[in-house]
Amino acid sequence: MIELKTESQLELMRASGRLAGDVLTQVAAAVAPGITTRELDALAQRLITDAGAECSFLGYRGYPAALCVSINEEVIHGIPGDRQVLPGDIVSLDVGVCYKGYHGDTATTVAVAVSDPELLHLLDVTRRARDAGIAAVRPGARLGDVSHAVERVVLKAGFAVVRDFVGHGIGQALHEDPQVPNYGKPGRGPVLKPGMTFCIEPMVAFKSAAVSVLRDGWTVVTNDSSPSAHFEHTIAVCADGAEILTAV
Ligand code: MF3
Ligand code: CO
Ligand code: CO
Repeated sequence: MIELKTESQLELMRASGRLAGDVLTQVAAAVAPGITTRELDALAQRLITDAGAECSFLGYRGYPAALCVSINEEVIHGIPGDRQVLPGDIVSLDVGVCYKGYHGDTATTVAVAVSDPELLHLLDVTRRARDAGIAAVRPGARLGDVSHAVERVVLKAGFAVVRDFVGHGIGQALHEDPQVPNYGKPGRGPVLKPGMTFCIEPMVAFKSAAVSVLRDGWTVVTNDSSPSAHFEHTIAVCADGAEILTAV
């Protein structure tokens, strides 16, 4: 069942989304050679709790941190630890906050002293794929239109869409209906209605989209070890399109 949020619920979603966007921006700005992924997580935790909010991820199905930090061939759900960020890395950051009972969820990928233009292109395409999905959102459109718009940008660039993980509805739970795949057919799936809130979050791999989960039970990596990028916004369907709740 896809829940439609009321205007007062949307007001709370705006607050949590704005906070998630702020936290992500500040954590992304802290990414530099030598910083450990644990330090980035500590910063995220401090920013979230100082704002009077809760870390959506901490304890979610046993996840041990507030932030996911996924470097290079890591796609998503990288667990913060002792690893240092190095020049040439691409670092995906994903953060969720819960404020007054409502979740906001957003991700970006940061290039750290990257000179390889192909790698920068991967980031650009993944961001544009997400934004194309957002641009396809309007009442009366179908979810498949959104999925297809995301996929099209990725395939046109010659990269691969990860299929094993998808976007999702969001609200009082971090993950709600519907699932939002990053591939699909136009004209299929649920009809979008004002008040729906969901996350659009393409995960794009340089070569093959085949992925596995590491033995830590969380970290998702590409099987061919090629790099992968991830961009995510939480959006609301409104009268004339999408409102990006996690924009800064
Ligand atoms: N933020 C991820 C998503 O975009 C989910 C993280 S799962 C957690 O849906 F366990 F790490 F919290
Ligand atoms: Co998400
Ligand atoms: Co996320």
